[in-house]
Amino acid sequence: MRILQHIEPSAPEPRRAICCLHSFTPGRVNLIGEHTDYNGGMVMPAAISLGIRAELIMMEEPEDEFSQAGEVRIASRARGETLCFGSEEIAEIASSVLLTGIELSTPVEVPGLEECQWGRYIVGCFILFEATLRLRGMDRTPWRRGTLEISLDSTLPQGAGLSSSAALCISILGQLNKVSGDPLDASTVARLAMYVEHRFVGTACGLMDQLAVLCSQANHFTCIDFVRFPINREFEVQYVLAHEALQQHQLLIFKTGVSHSLAESEYNERRASCERALVDLKGALGVEAHSLGELARCTPFRGLGEMETLRVLEGLLGENEGGVMRARRACHAMCENGRVVGAVQALSQGDARTLGGLMRASHRSLDSLYEVSCDELNYACKAVEEVAARVALGCGLNPEQAFIGSRMTGGGFGGSTIQLVHRSIGDKLVDCFCSPSNPYTAETGILPELFLCEVSPGFSIG
Ligand code: GLA
Repeated sequence: MRILQHIEPSAPEPRRAICCLHSFTPGRVNLIGEHTDYNGGMVMPAAISLGIRAELIMMEEPEDEFSQAGEVRIASRARGETLCFGSEEIAEIASSVLLTGIELSTPVEVPGLEECQWGRYIVGCFILFEATLRLRGMDRTPWRRGTLEISLDSTLPQGAGLSSSAALCISILGQLNKVSGDPLDASTVARLAMYVEHRFVGTACGLMDQLAVLCSQANHFTCIDFVRFPINREFEVQYVLAHEALQQHQLLIFKTGVSHSLAESEYNERRASCERALVDLKGALGVEAHSLGELARCTPFRGLGEMETLRVLEGLLGENEGGVMRARRACHAMCENGRVVGAVQALSQGDARTLGGLMRASHRSLDSLYEVSCDELNYACKAVEEVAARVALGCGLNPEQAFIGSRMTGGGFGGSTIQLVHRSIGDKLVDCFCSPSNPYTAETGILPELFLCEVSPGFSIG
């Protein structure tokens, strides 16, 4: 596997291209339901209008004397780099993955790409795609007789917590699936993208991001319930349309400008501590549950508020410092689901006040119980609320109706906050944060970036 700098894919002669595909894969925000997907809980993301354009060209035979049959070139315009590898290299690693199984979490080494994370994402998609096809007894991938080129162009900001990595994996897997005649269904494609994160990058993420960028529908939030996922890999999707009173609202993304390098290990630690809490709780209560999300729906937790849940959890787990910490983490994972249910209702009934309250409560829980927020995310929420209230009043609008939120979105430790704003104040609000005298920059010294986005459809290809 090699990385070439600043190389654009060569323009193919049209008569020799046997397939040409264009796709768009959006990023996502999550309105509410954070760190619940891998805990058998609920989430409510939406795809956004920023994303990755990909163009695929498959040639029936090597283009010139410099290329070989089965050669793959993936060009990233943003990075000015082209990744090159051969389909035999992929086949070899796919064989070793098949010996152990696809769904494990053990890392897969990719020679030559130890220092190239975006390359590992891409090669990981090729390897798991090929392994899955072989596992199902399907014919091997069609480009091995010719060459394959994919060029990628992204409007998604990096390190903003908007799932640029899920968008990258779905772009590649979506293209491979299409060019191979659509052998895999959407749920399998999404799961492969998740296993790429687990095995080629080392983040033990859940399935929210991949499903959001793949399956979202225009103007709808995607409420997903993962309670059955740990049992049989199934999940339930409900598309939620905002009430007409909220249809004049847009998504406002506030990129804090910090992306903490510890994020992946902290993320994995949170997941591990929830898994340990589940084992301890099952032991203490003598009940069978496959996740904290499932446990939250059973006695003695069903119907309890946050404070009571925390009291019960501390009583069961809090014999030492580690146990107290796990009780707090579990409390977030279990109580966040009730907020998602409340948010679905508030969104469909046009209840801006309740929705804003639930988003703020979610942020507080992520900050104080789950401990995945940071100073910058907290300042961002505060600053944007203050400025929005001023702007709304200046426009003669009720701030509670014109501005809904705000909360951190995605894994945390930096990234972005999410809020819904009425169209009439969106641009003004963005302008207020362009100058360094804004309250966020005054506090942190960082000039934030704000994006107004529409709730958008997921992956499209043609
Ligand atoms: C990241 C992960 C998701 C999810 C969120 C937190 O985005 O990729 O699976 O766990 O964090 O809600």
